[in-house]
Amino acid sequence: MIICETREELTNWRNNQLEVSLVPTMGALHDGHLSLIQEAKKHRGRSLVSIFVNPKQFGPNEDFDQYPRTLDADLKKCEDEGVDCVWIPKERGIYPEGVENAIGITVPDSLSKVLCGVSRPHFFDGVCTVVYRLLILSKATTAIFGEKDFQQLIILKKMVSDLMIPVTISGCPIVRETDGLAMSSRNRYLSSKERHNAATLYQALLTAKKELSEGINDISVIRSRLQSNCPQLTLDYLECVDHDTLELKQTCKNGDRLCVAAWCGQTRLIDNLMI
Ligand code: PAF
Repeated sequence: MIICETREELTNWRNNQLEVSLVPTMGALHDGHLSLIQEAKKHRGRSLVSIFVNPKQFGPNEDFDQYPRTLDADLKKCEDEGVDCVWIPKERGIYPEGVENAIGITVPDSLSKVLCGVSRPHFFDGVCTVVYRLLILSKATTAIFGEKDFQQLIILKKMVSDLMIPVTISGCPIVRETDGLAMSSRNRYLSSKERHNAATLYQALLTAKKELSEGINDISVIRSRLQSNCPQLTLDYLECVDHDTLELKQTCKNGDRLCVAAWCGQTRLIDNLMI
């Protein structure tokens, strides 16, 4: 496994016509990331994992400084998965003139100011800005993301289509703990009591899906029932969206996605479910 920091060190795979499957990450790798890596390895060519905690996607009061950084463990996991190259860019390698002076991508409000964008208004601009740079620098042919960040996935698909970047964006199913909690690097912030409460979110989503099949399909009703099914959590949002466009629906139907965010203590959980 090659470990590199600079774009020059990224091997000349593409010059040799090899396809590159990139798994962009911020490190603190868990089994969800490993499923993305396993998907990358199914593709022809080489697998590349980037580890970069992107300052541009964190708000001023968010957890950039506290974000878990577990490089040694991450490298071991990548090695065990048979990753061909781990790319650990320095901040100046991604933002040569500094984060504040970087030209960025602006995502239209219709996609970036709904769902998670209501409480994190600059998040998706920051994500797109870094992923654009990672794609250009790596010349990846495929980039793989998890469906837990469903809004991120839809926005990134639109970005590569709008900007005509020759890469295929591929999404992988959510990986869950045995009690259903969607895996996330931030789950390690949860106390044991919070960790117990956190699992109620997925159970409440499953209940909502069941109730939908019984005819309860108004999102306002689903929202208040879901909140009462996970009383220890504070709902940030629950929305039903079109699977391709993220358009918000008042009435949910099969094929839509229920997307949820809720606070569990100081930790914000997100999850989603196809209905
Ligand atoms: O999903 C993430 O971990 C990040 O948003 C990403 C895509 C690696 C960009 O920093």
